[in-house]
Amino acid sequence: MAGSAQHAQWSSRWAFIMAAVGSAVGLGNIWKFPYEAGEGGGGAFVILYLLFVLVIGVPCLVAELSLGRRGQKSPVMTMKSIAEEEGRSKLWGLLGWSGIIGAFIIISFYSLVGGWVLAYMVKAASGFAGLDAAASTETFLTFIADPVKPIIAHFCFMAITVGIVARGVQGGLEKAVTVLMPALFVILLLLVVYSGVTGEFTQALAFLFEPNFHALTGDKILNALGLSFFSLSLAMGSIMTYGSYLPKDVNIPKSAITIAAADSAVALMAGLAIFPIVFAYGLNPGGGGGLVFMTLPIAFGQMPLGIVVGTLFFALLAVAAITSSISLLEPGVSYIEERTGMDRKKVTAIIGLLAFLLGTLSSFGQPGNLLGDVHFFGGMSIMDVKDYLTNNIIMPVGAMFMMIFVGWFVSRKAMMDELAIEDRSFRIWYFLVRFICPVAIFAVFANIIYDTIIAPMMAG
Ligand code: PHE
Repeated sequence: MAGSAQHAQWSSRWAFIMAAVGSAVGLGNIWKFPYEAGEGGGGAFVILYLLFVLVIGVPCLVAELSLGRRGQKSPVMTMKSIAEEEGRSKLWGLLGWSGIIGAFIIISFYSLVGGWVLAYMVKAASGFAGLDAAASTETFLTFIADPVKPIIAHFCFMAITVGIVARGVQGGLEKAVTVLMPALFVILLLLVVYSGVTGEFTQALAFLFEPNFHALTGDKILNALGLSFFSLSLAMGSIMTYGSYLPKDVNIPKSAITIAAADSAVALMAGLAIFPIVFAYGLNPGGGGGLVFMTLPIAFGQMPLGIVVGTLFFALLAVAAITSSISLLEPGVSYIEERTGMDRKKVTAIIGLLAFLLGTLSSFGQPGNLLGDVHFFGGMSIMDVKDYLTNNIIMPVGAMFMMIFVGWFVSRKAMMDELAIEDRSFRIWYFLVRFICPVAIFAVFANIIYDTIIAPMMAG
């Protein structure tokens, strides 16, 4: 187990790939990607997102996995020990902290949405027959406005996560991911085919891929960047921790490309499953976080075998969410376990409970719920604030510093040893890490600062 004298390890490359894909593929792809693409205006957002995944996400994934494997510890101690080894300040350990804290904030609301998925799985089992767009919207809004039901579901989701993480790397994490990820892929494919045949497929395609770059404001660009990090599980310590369980002989760049490809494929498939239905039923593509819950049930209500397909879909979405949430809990657990030597089960339960409590606020902050009228910064709900803080600030800033660390503060030779790839590929990666990634991330922020502060000042 992690934290005992022998640091834990994945049992094979396949197990690692499945765990990392499991971490990456989750609510970010199936719940978040479609509605953010919808709010972002479609095509241009999607193209930009894919570009960010390729040019920033993949190099960052490679960097984070390498740091993890080199450090062989929890994110904080990994950052500290590599910094020390390279004769750099121990303050780099703060990057580990920002990951652990970010992951804790994310899991608090991630588990709530995971709970929604569990609740919908139960609803799907009794069928959505006869549900039209209005009724479907109403069902969802009534559910999230309920002060108790979503909390129970949120608790169940967190309990499952805690149960798996408590069992450790090979006994818990690995077993959960190796069968279920491939199953998710198959069912999603089925849904795409169904939507394609019965829904407005061409309109969906046009919406997702025809770029209208005017729709891209600075904030939308930051959303696309944040989503690419979120979706790949970057800069939250998750990937670093998973990297620390990685055997030496696994090729990191190859793995990173596989992970990113699977992750993007699932996001696009989710879009292709959801938008044909959105357009066929006249739903609003920019309708926000309820999109997947309001659209797909309509299709399940009408298709033959809808009860089976619907239940299966939400079951697998729950699994995808769980394989991500375990990776959100793991960094904090591995750190506390490493520092205190406390029993893994106890640590997991305590962190899980705290995250659960923080998550209840996100539920109470939903429209119509107990704190539904509480808003911050021009209309953000509690969940929006946590989401914005992690996706749009902690993740990109954390990733930027991580790239600066790897590109400028760790020796080139150390990274070459870790990656063991041919010279040309290494040079491309190193160039992206040193220059393109930090500058691009910085530019996205500078653009927003210009839009929101400097331009209005000059105009006024
Ligand atoms: N990548 C996960 C998803 O798309 C979420 C996640 C973010 C997991 C950060 C771990 C770390 O659902």
